Amino acid sequence: MAGPDPRFAAYVPSPVDRQAPATAEVAKATEDDVPALAVLQSRARGGSARDWENRIRRACGSERGMVVTAKVSGEAVGYANVAFLPEHPVDHAPAGYYLTGVTVAPTWRRRGIARLLTLWRMGWVREQDAAIWCVISARNRASLDLHRELGFDHVLIGASFQGVEFTGGEGWLLRADPPRQ
Ligand SMILES: CC(C)(COP(=O)(O)OP(=O)(O)OC[C@H]1O[C@@H](n2cnc3c(N)ncnc32)[C@H](O)[C@@H]1OP(=O)(O)O)[C@@H](O)C(=O)NCCC(=O)NCCS
Repeated sequence: MAGPDPRFAAYVPSPVDRQAPATAEVAKATEDDVPALAVLQSRARGGSARDWENRIRRACGSERGMVVTAKVSGEAVGYANVAFLPEHPVDHAPAGYYLTGVTVAPTWRRRGIARLLTLWRMGWVREQDAAIWCVISARNRASLDLHRELGFDHVLIGASFQGVEFTGGEGWLLRADPPRQ
């Protein structure tokens, strides 16, 4: 069996020591945020900060999406993306608004930052569309728990969704529908 993927947080459903939830400010990122977000992402997931800078800058300029930051006392401690994606021509993942790339700096984890970033993006998508989509590696159990807790349910399991090929060969396509009245 393959070992854990170092890009994902170790799966600890019930940590022994917990820090208080952080009070973070969540907002749409601007061009000025890009260099710090690129460093955060390169440290958390590997790859060069320069490559990440280009990718994050493109995401900031997206017409039907955005980059969102979480800051504590002005310091970026996490960020995430949301974008409208058309139906994928190869793996046929459906068109819709997708939450992607949530990353929290390792020293700020387990303090509710990803939950805040996800709730903020869900609120934004709900103003555009009923359904909210995301794709997650089956091996990223921390991220699966985070999203399921916020109302995402699994729709399909596959090797690739929206062109994302999963470590270990299996990932989930998930959708959150509006809460029932
Ligand atoms: C996954 C990640 C974004 C979570 O960020 P975070 O700010 O630590 O998450 P939160 O504190 O908001 O956690 C919310 C819930 O998610 C789940 N969760 C988060 N991290 C977890 C972990 N390491 N193990 C188990 N569950 C976890 C828990 O249900 C948690 O609620 P709880 O703390 O009340 O038990 C962060 O670990 C990270 O950046 N990982 C690397 C990048 C990545 O894998 N991104 C997701 C790509 S789809």
